[in-house]
Order: sequence, then structure tokens, then C-alpha cells
Amino acid sequence: MNSKGFPFPMPLGWFKVALSAEVPPDQLLTRHYLGTELVIWRDEDGHAVCHEAYCAHLGAHLGVGGSVSNGCVHCPFHGWAYDGTGRNVEIPYADGPNARAHLRTFPTVERGGIVLAWYHPRREPPLWDVMDIPEYDDPEYADYEVFEYTIGTCMQEIGENGFDQAHFEFVHSHPKVGTAEQVRFDGYDRVVLTSQQFPSSKGPVDGRIDVVGRGPGFAITRYQGLIDASLVGCSTPIDEETTQVTFLFSLRNPDRDERTARIARAFVDSVSREIGQDIPIWEHKRYTPTPALASSEKPIMDYRRWYEQFYCS
Ligand code: FES
Ligand SMILES: [Fe+2]
Repeated sequence: MNSKGFPFPMPLGWFKVALSAEVPPDQLLTRHYLGTELVIWRDEDGHAVCHEAYCAHLGAHLGVGGSVSNGCVHCPFHGWAYDGTGRNVEIPYADGPNARAHLRTFPTVERGGIVLAWYHPRREPPLWDVMDIPEYDDPEYADYEVFEYTIGTCMQEIGENGFDQAHFEFVHSHPKVGTAEQVRFDGYDRVVLTSQQFPSSKGPVDGRIDVVGRGPGFAITRYQGLIDASLVGCSTPIDEETTQVTFLFSLRNPDRDERTARIARAFVDSVSREIGQDIPIWEHKRYTPTPALASSEKPIMDYRRWYEQFYCS
């Protein structure tokens, strides 16, 4: 167990590294994720590209003074150019490129305005496709609002929250814990379907909270009841001990009347407040490998067994 109280390395998977709008053509975005410095840019076809930021020549940081032009990223130190596959294609003061010079390059996809990069500790190719987000093609759903949180724990501990039904009442003061109709782990996917009553000024309203996730870094939570909403939750390892969580909220017809707009605002605020209530617990707890559980808490162990497939050395 490391100093933070859990024994896990970074998991493999697809992880959000940027929003598409943060990667305009001919610009270089720098981010610190996956335990290293990254640069993200677009090749000539507009595809997002993600490399480790350090030049294969003498190690300069491409994001500190580097540039993008003609479908290549150019190092600020001696001007070597790399294409979107990370291959050196030009040395300004040599007759040809160095065939051995490669930037570590992470496969990328874009879904619903999110750029995701594939991380595998042994650099193996992607094992699954990222799910589609149909709401983002549905004109009834409003543009998403983005919330980001940097949290001092690992991804597995954060994800366990969704399988810990009892904490919703104690930490988040949910008046009544929802009824989990189905908790399913299937290959790289996980599904939790819950019927839930939401309080309102007109009394409790029947609704649902349904979560579908694929891999450790991506899940969509769909809320129905007082208001229909989709919450895309992305988790990205900054390093082994720190995680960035991004929530992208999209509400269906939030402005159709004043009451709906008010409920929509309160809903977004409450989900944001709830992660604020979880964070201090996550940041100070210790991972318990053989926990003493109540009989209803089997899904926590099922989740942990499912998660093991995302670790490899
Ligand atoms: S360190 Fe990048 S070109 Fe020399
Ligand atoms: Fe929680």
C-alpha cells in the first residue's frame, strides 16, 4: 500500500484528455495526465493526436515553445518535426529523419466533444470502443455544462461510490435510498439500474437513475423523473494518486418553463454538491481489501472483481 492508503497502479482504458474545443487546429495543448506530460493537437485531417510531451531527440518539452504546422509538431529545441503517429519526419539540419526517433503516442477518439486517449501500461492497442452518447445528437438536449474536480485518490476508490448504496443516505442525505433493480458486470461494461423517488414541492416524484459505463474512465448516468438529464462522467488518472473527474451535464428541454429551469438548476447544483461531500471521505480513507460488509453490500465486491481486469503490470 502506498502513502495514500491504496495499493493500485493506474488502470488501463480510454480517458478524457481534453474537450474537443480545447484543441483548435495548429495549436498545441499541454496536459498532465497518465503520470506524465502530454501534448494534444490536430493532424491535417483534423484528427486529435496525443503524445507524451518529451522529444525523442534530447528530451525537450514540446509544449514549451513547440508549434504545430503542416500536419506536424515541431520541437522548440532543435526543430525536429514529428507527424501524428509520433514518427520523426524531418531534422532541419540533416538529410533525412531519424527512423529510431518516435514520440510515445496514445490512440485517440472523439465522442460528443470529448477527446479520449487510450492508455495501456504495456502499450497494447485498444481493447474496446468508447460508447456513443446519443443525447448529444438529440436536439431536445441542451449543450452540456462542464464541471471538473481534482481529487487526491485513485480511480477505483471513486468508482466504488456508485455501488455503495448505503452512503447515499448518510453522506448525501437522500431521503430514501433508491431500489437497485439491476447491477450487472459484463466484460468491460457495468450497468446499474435504479428506481428512485425524488423529493419536490409537490411531493415525491417517481424517477430513475440508470448508469451504463464502459471501462474505468467513462460512464453515462441518465436521470428521469423531475427532469430528464444525462451526466457523462469521465475519470482520468493524473497520476497513481490523483484523479480528475469531469461531469458533463446535459438536460432535456431545461428552459421549457420557469419551473423546469428552476428544477434543472437545483438538480445540477445538487449533483455538484454531492461530489463535494464525497471528496473529503475519499481523500482520507484507507482502502480495506477484506472489508466487513452488510449482507446487502455484495455489489461492492463484484465491482472490485470487475475492476481487476483494468490492472496489468
Ligand atoms: S530536443 Fe527536440 S529537437 Fe532536440
Ligand atoms: Fe457519493
